[in-house]
Amino acid sequence: MTQPENYPIAKSQDHAIGVVGAGQMGHGIAHVMLRAGHAVMLLDTSQALVDAGAKRIIKGLARDVEKERMTEEQRQQAVTRLKTTTALADLGAADFIIEAVTEKFDVKAYVFRSLEPHCPPETIFASNTSSISITRLAAATQRPGKFIGLHFFNPVPVMKLVEVVPGLQTAPETVEKAISLATSVGKTAVRVNDFPGFVSNRVLMPMINEAVFCLMEGVADAAGIDNVMKLGMNHPMGPLELADLIGLDVCMDILKVLYESLRDPKYRPCPLLEKMVAAGWLGCKAGRGFYEYPKK
Ligand SMILES: NC(=O)c1ccc[n+]([C@@H]2O[C@H](COP(=O)([O-])OP(=O)(O)OC[C@H]3O[C@@H](n4cnc5c(N)ncnc54)[C@H](O)[C@@H]3O)[C@@H](O)[C@H]2O)c1
Repeated sequence: MTQPENYPIAKSQDHAIGVVGAGQMGHGIAHVMLRAGHAVMLLDTSQALVDAGAKRIIKGLARDVEKERMTEEQRQQAVTRLKTTTALADLGAADFIIEAVTEKFDVKAYVFRSLEPHCPPETIFASNTSSISITRLAAATQRPGKFIGLHFFNPVPVMKLVEVVPGLQTAPETVEKAISLATSVGKTAVRVNDFPGFVSNRVLMPMINEAVFCLMEGVADAAGIDNVMKLGMNHPMGPLELADLIGLDVCMDILKVLYESLRDPKYRPCPLLEKMVAAGWLGCKAGRGFYEYPKK
């Protein structure tokens, strides 16, 4: 069995992890936590949504066995470590709670404030936000020293990077624990200071937005734009394909955070992007974005 270097499996049940939001990122984060031997409590707003997230995780773990990344016995153990809920109180036993809900400050702040009474003071709260200020989110809680940004990348089981983003108030011990958690699931942690969009989206989102402007202005069609960036710049995916994978609503929300926080018009979302979001053409998850994705 091939086991890639730096790919821990069922090392130990170090942590109980709460994951809030069972969507694209939440289910992926839960998947890698389970694969590394942690126990996970996955939460979303309805049983149907958590069940859908759990189904994707179980499918992903089966694929890990097919690809010889874990044994059947390890898969079975991982599945038994997964629990789902719609009640925040069930996250009370978690050591770390990782939030991966909608990219809106008010939604995230509401989640953390609602969690507070159920969690002992030592529980670390982490946000997977792509762009929202960690300092501001931390200030919305009673535990700013135990609050941190843990920015995973999509698809989580594949992408190596986690941006670890301390807020102004984050305690050094919280940073160490967050880096250690990211490392325990085989990721490379890069510490980044708390500025809107951190490094990743500060650089990536203007490129995606500019590609949408190129499409809107007729500089080339979607495939043409993506091919230029793939074949000419050696990018593994074109910016429009990548936007479809990320979700056009997520891209627009991130651009709005950059635009409003840095107060610079260069980050204004392209009107075509706004129009596509309004139409519900959100990318892969909606079956249509810059490209079409027939349901399998
Ligand atoms: N999509 C990406 O490529 C990507 C990459 C890195 C980070 N992120 C960030 O991850 C977060 C989630 O993005 P996503 O792409 O997974 O979105 P998504 O829409 O796929 O999933 C969000 C989930 O959060 C749930 N949710 C909303 N409000 C909730 C609440 N109050 N309590 C519990 N669950 C709630 C929704 O029901 C949904 O299932 C965002 O902050 C986003 O910026 C996204």
